[in-house]
Amino acid sequence: MVSILVVNGPNLNMLGKREPEVYGRETLDDIVARLEKVMDELGGRMEHCQSNHEGVLIDAIHRAKGVHDGIVINPGAFTHYSYALRDALAAVSLPTIEVHISNVHAREAFRHHSVIAPIAVGQVIGLGTDGYEWALRALVRKISRV
Ligand code: DQA
Repeated sequence: MVSILVVNGPNLNMLGKREPEVYGRETLDDIVARLEKVMDELGGRMEHCQSNHEGVLIDAIHRAKGVHDGIVINPGAFTHYSYALRDALAAVSLPTIEVHISNVHAREAFRHHSVIAPIAVGQVIGLGTDGYEWALRALVRKISRV
């Protein structure tokens, strides 16, 4: 059974209330419920973790080693500068897909660069909250093929 860790970084607990014109009206609970249904359909399982604290995210990523087969992560603003988060992902060496709800390339210049991208197998950017589902499906397919 494929097992995926879904990680959400800072401020993503505010989805639904936070800049809905940028991030939509779906809440994080709505998204997680949808992803759990997708994993049931695919015959896999998932764990979700959201934190506004870098160290909590790093600890969750470390615990994924030997427990999960891959990681779907929206690192929020940590995307753009957290070498510590990137190193944690590199340390566990699990296939990782990076998700961004908004099209970061059409926004402020500081959002154009991701320090996570070089260690990810791919990115899903700008497809709204549906992006989590596409990332999850793509990752399960990739892991199942190996
Ligand atoms: C985001 C984009 C980041 O630049 C921002 O800091 C976020 C959300 C996105 O999902 O579009 O918190 O990762």
